[in-house]
Amino acid sequence: MISPRLELALSALKLVLVSQFFRSAVITILAAAQASEYAPVRNVECPATLLRSVQNQTLNAQEQSYITGRETGPIAKAWSDWLGDGQALDYDMTSFKGKLPRIGIALGGGGYRAAQYGAGVLSALDARNSTAKKSGTGGLLQVATYLSASSAGSNNHPGGSWLAGSLILNDWPSIPDLVYGNGGDLPGWMLDLDLIAPDSIDTSDPNNMAFYGDILADVTAKAKSGLDVSATDLWGRMVAYHFLNGTTRSNFYENTSTAHGAGQLWSHVPFLPSYQNFSMPFPIVVTNSQPVGTNVTTVAPLGAVVYEITPFEFGSWDPNLSTMIPTQFSGTRLTGGYPTNNTACVTGFDQASFIMGTSASMFNVLLDGSSDNINDFNSENGDQTGMSYLLQQLSGDAPTRALNVANWPNSFQNLTPSAFGDAASEWLDLIDGGSNGENVPLGNLFVKARELDVVVAIDAGADNATNSWPNGTSPLTASERISSILSTSHQQFPPIPSSPADFISTGVNQRPTFFGCDPAQNPPEYPLVIYLPNSPPLDGDAPATNAPTFQFSYSSLFTAVFLNQAFANTLGGFVPNTTDADPNFGKCLQCAAIDRARYKASPTPSRSDVCTTCFSQYCYSPSNPPSVSELPGRDYNFTDPDPDAYNKVVEFLKTHVGVLVGGILGLLALIGVIIGFIFWWRRRRERKATYSRVDELRDDDEPWRHYDTNSGIYEMPKLSLDS
Ligand SMILES: *[C@@H]1O[C@H](CO)[C@@H](O)[C@H](O)[C@H]1NC(C)=O
Ligand SMILES: *[C@@H]1O[C@H](CO)[C@@H](O)[C@H](O)[C@H]1NC(C)=O
Ligand SMILES: *[C@@H]1O[C@H](CO)[C@@H](O)[C@H](O)[C@H]1NC(C)=O
Ligand SMILES: *[C@@H]1O[C@H](CO)[C@@H](O)[C@H](O)[C@H]1NC(C)=O
Ligand SMILES: *[C@@H]1O[C@H](CO)[C@@H](O)[C@H](O)[C@H]1NC(C)=O
Ligand SMILES: *[C@@H]1O[C@H](CO)[C@@H](O)[C@H](O)[C@H]1NC(C)=O
Ligand SMILES: *[C@@H]1O[C@H](CO)[C@@H](O)[C@H](O)[C@H]1NC(C)=O
Ligand SMILES: *[C@@H]1O[C@H](CO)[C@@H](O)[C@H](O)[C@H]1NC(C)=O
Ligand SMILES: *[C@@H]1O[C@H](CO)[C@@H](O)[C@H](O)[C@H]1NC(C)=O
Ligand SMILES: *[C@@H]1O[C@H](CO)[C@@H](O)[C@H](O)[C@H]1NC(C)=O
Ligand SMILES: *[C@@H]1O[C@H](CO)[C@@H](O)[C@H](O)[C@H]1NC(C)=O
Ligand SMILES: *[C@@H]1O[C@H](CO)[C@@H](O)[C@H](O)[C@H]1NC(C)=O
Repeated sequence: MISPRLELALSALKLVLVSQFFRSAVITILAAAQASEYAPVRNVECPATLLRSVQNQTLNAQEQSYITGRETGPIAKAWSDWLGDGQALDYDMTSFKGKLPRIGIALGGGGYRAAQYGAGVLSALDARNSTAKKSGTGGLLQVATYLSASSAGSNNHPGGSWLAGSLILNDWPSIPDLVYGNGGDLPGWMLDLDLIAPDSIDTSDPNNMAFYGDILADVTAKAKSGLDVSATDLWGRMVAYHFLNGTTRSNFYENTSTAHGAGQLWSHVPFLPSYQNFSMPFPIVVTNSQPVGTNVTTVAPLGAVVYEITPFEFGSWDPNLSTMIPTQFSGTRLTGGYPTNNTACVTGFDQASFIMGTSASMFNVLLDGSSDNINDFNSENGDQTGMSYLLQQLSGDAPTRALNVANWPNSFQNLTPSAFGDAASEWLDLIDGGSNGENVPLGNLFVKARELDVVVAIDAGADNATNSWPNGTSPLTASERISSILSTSHQQFPPIPSSPADFISTGVNQRPTFFGCDPAQNPPEYPLVIYLPNSPPLDGDAPATNAPTFQFSYSSLFTAVFLNQAFANTLGGFVPNTTDADPNFGKCLQCAAIDRARYKASPTPSRSDVCTTCFSQYCYSPSNPPSVSELPGRDYNFTDPDPDAYNKVVEFLKTHVGVLVGGILGLLALIGVIIGFIFWWRRRRERKATYSRVDELRDDDEPWRHYDTNSGIYEMPKLSLDS
C-alpha cells in the first residue's frame, strides 16, 4: 500500500522534475537539421530495372552465390569439425557424399529479453565457445546457411532483430565479445545505460538532452530530405547506440566525433570482411505491414503482407506481392515498376538502425492512433518521459503522415495483376515483425526456393503475460499462415500441437523439441524444426530469462546471469521426470541437424540407434504426445538477479515511509533523500562505467548491493557524496 503522504511527496517531486524538465527542454535549442549520415540521398540515377518478380521461386543471384560459397567453403569444413567422421552418432559421414542438410536459424523478438536470450543460445551453438564445443552443441551455428531475425509484436512486444543486426554489422564477433566488450574495438552492448534515458532518470539532465538532440538532428535531417519519419526512426537511432558499431561509454553523449551508427547501411553488409569470407550465415530481417487505411492496434491480420530485407532485396514472397526491389534503392517510390524519371531514385534509406527499428516498431499498438499515449513504457525510470519528449519534439519539427508506423515509400504501387492490397497507396505502413503473432520469423525460411532442410526456432516470446514465457503462438501462427495463404510459395509446416493449451499441456514449449522428425515422403514434405523455447533453469533455480519486455536497462551482473542461464539450458536439453541436464543433448542436437542427409542419400541409410534414442526423447509425436508432468521442479516465477537499486529504494520508501516521516518535515526529508539518491545513482553509473567486463566486477566494488534475497530486506545505501 502506498500512503497518501507518500503519494503527495511523489507528486511534489514529479512537479519539481517536470518543471525542471520543461525549463531545460525550452532552453535546449534544436539546431536546424543539417547533413546527417542518417539522411537518405534523393534524385540518384536509377538502374534500368528495379523490380524482380519472385513468383517463379528464383533466388536473388547474389544470395544464391553467397550461400553456394558458404556451403562449399566454410560449411563443408564446419560439418567435419562438428561431427568428425560421424562415428559418435553411428554414421559414416562419407556415405552422405557431401549432400548435407541446409539449415536456417530464426531469432525471435521480445526486446532486450529476446536479444539476450538469443545471445545465450547462439553462444551455446557456437563452435568458437570451447564449453559449447565440448558439449556437442557448439557447431550448429557454423553449419547454418541462413539467419533470419525479427521482433515480437504480439502483445505490444518490441524487440529483437537487434541481436542479428549487432552481430552482422560488428563483423560477426563471438557473443561474449559482442555483449560484454573485448577491451578493444568492441565496447559491448552497455545495457546498463537505459535505452531511452541513458544518463539518469532525470531526462532533462544535460547528457540525456544531448542524446535526444543528436537523435532528433538525425531524424529531422531525414525528414528534411522529403521522406516522412516517425517514432520508428527515433527508436532505431536509440537502438543503434547499443547494438551498432561506433558508440562507446566515453563518446555516448558526444555529437561530434561519431555518427553512432548512422550511415551504416544494410546493403553494405556484403563489404564486411566476415561476409567476404563467408563466415556469417546469410541474414534476413523480417517486418510486418499494416494494410494502409486500417489501424492495427492489437494482432495484425494473417493476410497482411510480411516483408523481408536481405542485404540485396526488400520485398515479399507472399503470393499477393511476390516482388523485390534492391535494398540499396528501397525508399524509392515506383508506379507500375517505374520511377517518375530516371534520376528519381533514393539511396541510403536502408540504414541498419532504421531496419532494426522497423522490424521492432510496435508503435501502432503503443500510440494507438493518438499522439503520445505511451503508458506501456516505464514511468519511474525516465523511459516514458523521454519517449514523450522525443515524440513531442518530432511532431513539432517534422510533421509526418503517420507517427506510429515505419513509413516506407511504396515501391510496389500499381503492379499488375494486382492482388496486392496496398497497390493504391503511396506509402507502406511497416510494423513490428511479430505483429501477426509470428514472433519467430519462420515463414521466410520455408520459402520453397530457399530449400531448407532444418529450421532452428529460438523463441523468447512473452505469450504468458504474467511470466513472459512462450506458449507456441509463434510456430502456430507460422503454421497457420503457411497452410492458409502461403501453400503455393512455401514448404509445409511439420505437425505441432494444435493450440497454445496443447503446447502447455505437452510441455513442448518448455524444453527443446524437434518437430517433423518422420516425414511421410522422400524428399520430405517439410523441414525438421528444432524448437528452442525460453524456459526456466532445469534444476529449479529462479529464472532471470523471462524478464519483462519493457525492461530497457540491465546491470552487467543481470546480463551475465541471463546469458548463462540461456547458455546452460541450451547445453542441457532435459531428462524426463528429473531436474537433470542431459549429457547427451549435444549428440541429440547433432542427430537432428544431420538427419535429413539420410533422405538425400541413395539408398537411404537407416537412422542410427544413438539417434533413434535421442529422437524418442526430443521428437514431438502427435500420436504419442508427451506431458508437462515430465518437467518437474521448475520455478516459473521471474526473479531479478540484481534487484535494481532505484526500484528497491522506491519500494522501501513505499513500505517504510509511514514510520520515517510525518507531515511537511517528512516530505522535505523524502525529497532530500531522493535527490541524494539521484546523486548517488549517477555516481554509481559513473563507477560502473569504469568496468567494461563483468568479470572485473568485484564484490567490494558494489557497495550498493545490500539486498538480502532471502529476507527481501533492503539496506539503504550510504548516501555520502564524498567518496
Ligand atoms: C523466373 O523469373 C525470372 C525473372 O522474371 C526470369 O529471369 C527467369 O528466367 C524465370 N525462370 C523460370 C524458370 O521461368
Ligand atoms: C561461452 O558462452 C558463455 C555464454 O555466453 C560465456 O559465459 C562463456 O564465457 C563462453 N565460454 C568461452 C570459453 O568462451
Ligand atoms: C567500426 O566502425 C569503424 C569506423 O566507422 C570502422 O573503421 C571499423 O572497421 C568498424 N568495425 C567493425 C568491427 O565493423
Ligand atoms: C549534432 O550534430 C548535428 C550535425 O552535425 C547537428 O545538426 C545537431 O544540432 C547536433 N546536436 C546537438 C544536440 O548538438
Ligand atoms: C573471416 O574474416 C574475419 C574478419 O576478417 C576473420 O576474423 C575470420 O578469421 C575469417 N575467417 C576465415 C575462415 O578465414
Ligand atoms: C525526377 O523526379 C524527382 C522525384 O519526383 C524530382 O525531384 C526531379 O526533379 C525529377 N527530375 C527531372 C529531371 O525531372
Ligand atoms: C486510423 O487512425 C487515424 C488517426 O487516429 C484516423 O484518422 C483514421 O480514421 C483511423 N482509420 C480507421 C480505418 O479506423
Ligand atoms: C491476397 O490475395 C487474396 C487472393 O487473391 C485475397 O483474397 C486477399 O484479400 C489478398 N490480401 C491482401 C491483403 O491483399
Ligand atoms: C498464448 O499466448 C497468447 C499471446 O501470444 C495469448 O493470447 C494466449 O492467451 C495464450 N494462451 C494460453 C493458453 O496461454
Ligand atoms: C502463466 O504462467 C503461470 C505459471 O506458469 C501459470 O500459472 C498461468 O496460468 C499462466 N498464464 C496464462 C495466461 O497462461
Ligand atoms: C515419467 O513419469 C511418468 C509418471 O510417473 C511415467 O508415466 C513416464 O513414463 C515417465 N517418463 C519417462 C520418459 O520415464
Ligand atoms: C510462483 O508464483 C505463484 C503466484 O504468485 C506462487 O503461487 C508460487 O508459489 C510461486 N512459485 C515459486 C516456485 O516460487
